[in-house]
Amino acid sequence: MRTDKNVLITGGSKGLGRALAFELGKRGYKVALVARHKDPLLETIAELRHANIEAHAIMGDVGEPRDALAIAALAHQHLGHIDVLIHNASTLGPLPMPSLASLDSEEFLRVLQVNLLGPHRLTKAFGGNMLLRGSGTIVSISSDAAIAPYASWGAYSAAKSALDHMSRIWAQETNGTGLRFLTIDPGEMNTQMHADALPEADPTSLPDPVKVAVQIAAILSNPTVPSGSRVEASSFGELP
Ligand SMILES: NC(=O)c1ccc[n+]([C@@H]2O[C@H](COP(=O)([O-])OP(=O)(O)OC[C@H]3O[C@@H](n4cnc5c(N)ncnc54)[C@H](OP(=O)(O)O)[C@@H]3O)[C@@H](O)[C@H]2O)c1
Repeated sequence: MRTDKNVLITGGSKGLGRALAFELGKRGYKVALVARHKDPLLETIAELRHANIEAHAIMGDVGEPRDALAIAALAHQHLGHIDVLIHNASTLGPLPMPSLASLDSEEFLRVLQVNLLGPHRLTKAFGGNMLLRGSGTIVSISSDAAIAPYASWGAYSAAKSALDHMSRIWAQETNGTGLRFLTIDPGEMNTQMHADALPEADPTSLPDPVKVAVQIAAILSNPTVPSGSRVEASSFGELP
């Protein structure tokens, strides 16, 4: 069923964010995409428009405190209001990923800025308008690393774990307001981030983010998934 909703996706130029933009666009969403690098972002926007999807580029860094309000202002200028906010952009931190003992604490802080504090700032920047309207969905893209303790994944995992819990607490604090907070673990996907993290992995063995985006869109459109849920995309349905 087609919708007339508006979605903002951080990290929308590549990988899962790009795939979500196409999948949600096909379902009628108007999309605004955030990324730092202009060329891939504009290429994705052009391809979305070519597919008759209304799409807008917002250049910004979710890890930069000063960018949050600018991102919200531009999104409102382009689309009026945002129904669905997807915290998808994230960083692994320094590569190859170091052990906690070797991790520079300032590098750890940068990972927290992008993966945790950025979503906190953006949720605050968009949440007021959602509260006034009595509706809105905020999705945080998580990872199995939020739960499983993989050696050398410390900064990323700690940030994703905190992101999951922050989402649950937002859900508690907004109970009854019409806002819905979900965390979704997409599972492994054939993307640049996966290649950066595990260069030895065979990319052909990994799911295409385009297929994972279909599962995530199905979760989003299912009203029975309550606020505060953590959902594994793979448990929600077989890959199409
Ligand atoms: N790939 C996997 O196997 C896997 C598994 C579990 C969870 N995940 C999660 O899935 C999500 C998407 O990952 P992916 O694999 O699709 O990543 P990806 O292919 O590397 O794409 C990352 C996207 O985020 C943007 N981005 C990165 N840092 C940003 C920042 N500071 N501010 C704004 N945009 C930023 C990138 O564009 P710019 O570089 O131009 O900013 C790009 O559009 C992430 O949250 C990741 O943790 C991925």
